Amino acid sequence: MASGTSRDVLGRGLRVLGRAIREQPRIFAVAVSGSVLFGLLVIASAYVVGGVVGDVVVPAVERGEVARGALALAATALFGISVLRVVGIFGRRLGAGYMQYRLQAAYRRRVTRRYLELPLAWHHRNSTGTLLSNANSDVEAAWYPIAPLPFAVGTLVMLIGAVASLFFTDWALALVGLAVFPALFALNVVYSRRMAPRQARAQRLRAEVSGIAHESFDGALVVKTMGREAQETARFASRAGELRDALISVGRLRGVFDPMLETLPSLGTLAVLVVGALRLREGAITVTELVSVAFLFTVLAFPVRAIGWVLAELPRSVAGWDRVRRVLDATGEMPYGTTTLDPATREPATLAFDDVHFAYEPAEAHLPGAQVLGEVTFTVPAGKTVALVGPTGAGKSTIASLAVRLVDPGAGWITLDGVDVRELTAASLAATAALVAQVPFVFDDTVRANIALDRAGIGDDEVWAALRLAEADGFVAALPDGLDTMVGERGTSLSGGQRQRLTLARALAGRPRLLVLDDATSAVDPRVEAAILAGLRAPADGAPASILVVAYRRATIALADEVIYVEQGRVVARGTHTELLSTVPGYADLVTAYEQAEQEREQNRTYDEVTPLTSGLEVDR
Ligand SMILES: Nc1ncnc2c1ncn2[C@@H]1O[C@H](COP(=O)(O)OP(=O)(O)OP(=O)(O)O)[C@@H](O)[C@H]1O
Ligand SMILES: [Mg+2]
Repeated sequence: MASGTSRDVLGRGLRVLGRAIREQPRIFAVAVSGSVLFGLLVIASAYVVGGVVGDVVVPAVERGEVARGALALAATALFGISVLRVVGIFGRRLGAGYMQYRLQAAYRRRVTRRYLELPLAWHHRNSTGTLLSNANSDVEAAWYPIAPLPFAVGTLVMLIGAVASLFFTDWALALVGLAVFPALFALNVVYSRRMAPRQARAQRLRAEVSGIAHESFDGALVVKTMGREAQETARFASRAGELRDALISVGRLRGVFDPMLETLPSLGTLAVLVVGALRLREGAITVTELVSVAFLFTVLAFPVRAIGWVLAELPRSVAGWDRVRRVLDATGEMPYGTTTLDPATREPATLAFDDVHFAYEPAEAHLPGAQVLGEVTFTVPAGKTVALVGPTGAGKSTIASLAVRLVDPGAGWITLDGVDVRELTAASLAATAALVAQVPFVFDDTVRANIALDRAGIGDDEVWAALRLAEADGFVAALPDGLDTMVGERGTSLSGGQRQRLTLARALAGRPRLLVLDDATSAVDPRVEAAILAGLRAPADGAPASILVVAYRRATIALADEVIYVEQGRVVARGTHTELLSTVPGYADLVTAYEQAEQEREQNRTYDEVTPLTSGLEVDR
């Protein structure tokens, strides 16, 4: 973690604050004006109180007479000062609050937008827990010092004013001020330096704790079925314990420094009284002046703490900011090209892989990436169906993501209708090719919203047509509210096969000219799967797409015009299903093995299509 040494935390923290001020200059000006007003009034009040004591109270005690005029004047002055102070506090608080929360909101938006811009490769390297904490606690931490910042700036102005007024009053008292104020400042700086590593550690642990919590909730099913509750709880408890220790060490440091920061101004007051008494005897100052200065030191103590608050939050802010900036500065987003394929054409597209190589980025930059694909060359001719077959881990999903440009190849070319996919605009790419991923994702929204995704030109008719093609119209019609049915978070109220068909319908609704199906119907009854594929190859409206389908089942593969057989990232053989069966032993073994497994599964399990009632009930629950 690049939180740096405690030495440069101050400088970097101040730069973060500078950025905040540059982003919200007007609100900051309002808040600081309120704070400066407050600070100057604090000084003024000290002198008014001094005046009351020296000119009203002392004569009253000495001579037993009260100067009513002076008293009334002082009372009015104090009242006026109080009212103005309220205005100052109001302006400062309001401005600081606005500034802090506006910055938080703005950076939350920026971070989440960046997540969506960053390539899949980046997401592979970052856990969901980290992403959550970047967008939440790191953004908050980065802008924590904004709350006391205007107060601290106003206090600095106040201190300068106080020293000036001290010199104006008496040089000896001013020297006391010159000793105490820098000492206070230095103590605050030492405090924040000591705090830096502790805060950085706590912030990192906050992210880890939220990461573990997220993982155990996300994997609740595994945790429960494997009886891992105790281990998961222990894993969480140990990290939560570390966070607790880190926060306690923060608290302990606070416990040491807070009293010191509290005591220093009191020592200053004491020094003022001693020096002031001597100067009073010499006749260099009046009682009024002495009381004013002593009172000034007392009332200064509190605002000076604001500087400490800012400095104490700086390390945490820097730690949070570093983590936020890591997201904002992350590069590798895919630059899209400017070429558009004819948007009016409904003809199926041609997909070609030419000598494609691919390696996943290593988890750590210095390690070599593992070569996943090598010399992959094949074509999906317009309107044809090509099946991609191979053992698990062979690289089929990787080929599928390359085809729709979720990732870019390390070497080689991937073209759609002869145009390199890297030259296409994002919109043209999305309109031309659609991927139905191996793991279906359903948004926490209605069936309609899940399929239309707010895309132009997709009304209810188009949604139903897509559902029909995906063989999903039956179960959607049976849902309590039809298209308006909410499918829960991650579609938990849908069965696996229903979810797959919903995501298939989503891809079909955009009428892609190339459809990439990555094992997209594996949880669907084999007969329905074959029906879906047959429907896609020859749709009722007569506008078929080219199809690249990752498949295992004989019935599905048999429908393909050509089969590409991959092993360990290489195209080992290609041809029709029958040709490969007789010529490639590995292929025959794989298909047969899969068929046996499928038969066993079918004996033990019913697909949701066979038992529509249960799935209907699930939705009702
Ligand atoms: N995000 C990733 N980071 C690093 N390596 C990966 C990543 N995803 C996949 N791999 C590796 O790339 C290889 C190919 O994976 P891929 O998912 O393409 O296989 P597949 O043929 O789709 O397998 P399956 O049939 O199980 O879905 C595997 O060795 C896998 O370990
Ligand atoms: Mg796969």
